Amino acid sequence: MQLNTIILGAGAAGMMCAAHAGPGTLVLDHARAPGEKIRISGGGRCNFTNMYAGPENFLSQNPHFCKSALARYTQWDFIDLVNRHGIAWHEKTLGQLFCDSSAKQIVAMLLSEMERAGATLWLNTSLKDLSHADGRFCLMVEREGKTERLTARNLVLATGGKSIPKMGATGLAYDIARQFGLTITETRAGLVPFTFPEGRFAPLAGLSLPARLSNQRASFDEALLFTHRGLSGPAVLQLSSYWREGEEIGVDLAPDLDLYTELRDQRQASGRRDLTTELARLLPARLVEFLAPKLGLKGRLADQSDSALRGLTDALHDWRLTPSGTEGYRTAEVTLGGIDTDGLDARTMAASSLPGLYAIGEAVDVTGWLGGYNFQWAWSSGHAAGTAI
Ligand code: FDA
Repeated sequence: MQLNTIILGAGAAGMMCAAHAGPGTLVLDHARAPGEKIRISGGGRCNFTNMYAGPENFLSQNPHFCKSALARYTQWDFIDLVNRHGIAWHEKTLGQLFCDSSAKQIVAMLLSEMERAGATLWLNTSLKDLSHADGRFCLMVEREGKTERLTARNLVLATGGKSIPKMGATGLAYDIARQFGLTITETRAGLVPFTFPEGRFAPLAGLSLPARLSNQRASFDEALLFTHRGLSGPAVLQLSSYWREGEEIGVDLAPDLDLYTELRDQRQASGRRDLTTELARLLPARLVEFLAPKLGLKGRLADQSDSALRGLTDALHDWRLTPSGTEGYRTAEVTLGGIDTDGLDARTMAASSLPGLYAIGEAVDVTGWLGGYNFQWAWSSGHAAGTAI
């Protein structure tokens, strides 16, 4: 079969690209259903974009690369599309937009846009062989027990990253990119919980509180969640993308309070009160109980000198921890790194090494923060390649 364009991967980026790539487009995926990550995202409601999305919310070896695509297909363009399809949505927090009803509406919307554009979708299809000759890509694919030969002028790599292999994530885009002369930057799990030695936070498991997590590269004020295996919650997932094995992180357990001033004033007003009882007015009691032996929190407020109060409140505003690792690709929401943007055109996502080859979405070395940014990159990069084809 001769085609104009073959898109590998019917995920967020691939479907968006197909909606704009024009007639003669075939989308191939080895999964049983398209857009599986969309379907499960945002607790089944899909955090489909972020009102404040901008280049500063993305990590890449080249922080400028994402600018063009994000500017030419913005969050407002996607919101407009969602509105045209009558999908009701709401802002949850920090500009994060979710469907009121179900993420399946976003998948259905993309499928209908693909159909309108005349694109064809083949599921349960696996790639067996790929070559390029005389300006065309030649693919041998297996579908319903049969092998078929396909050729196309354009090939779009949209098979995503390595996160959640159980959901069908593979390194196919990286392998093909390498085959055709592109390079891959170091890949690692991003937006992923931190692990700590067994049982370290077991007494706190399930406790969530607003916190500021930082290292020398980034700082995030969001919820922190203690788990049996370590630390999770939005603040942790965000910082994980900026963390390297073996590094220390700082946790401010009360970013919106000045604990020193609070306790000093309280010491003046009622110095006979117990230090831990007073602290438990400002922080979750379970946390105070957990930290008391570690930080030597004991005695009455009046027993605490200014410097002792300063020392213990500094420790609560900058709790130093060293994760033993992360949960890895098993649970990571994204893959950091990927196809090196040096080999791609920022306007079109076309590979400089071979005319007709494109790479989009998570497979590319552009990774967003938590909060709808990764889907926005999928929409923007998919649109950039689709309209260029
Ligand atoms: P995506 O992974 O969506 O699609 C790749 C497609 O390629 C899949 O359909 C896969 O089956 C197919 N494929 C892979 N290997 C193949 C092979 N060898 N042969 C054939 N097909 C192959 N982001 C966000 O902005 N808001 C959110 O709410 C969430 N929530 C979220 C929850 C969870 C649990 C995860 C894991 C991730 C998120 N994300 C997110 C991240 C977001 O899902 C992700 O960044 C995008 O789906 C990336 O879109 P892509 O199209 O690039 O890859």
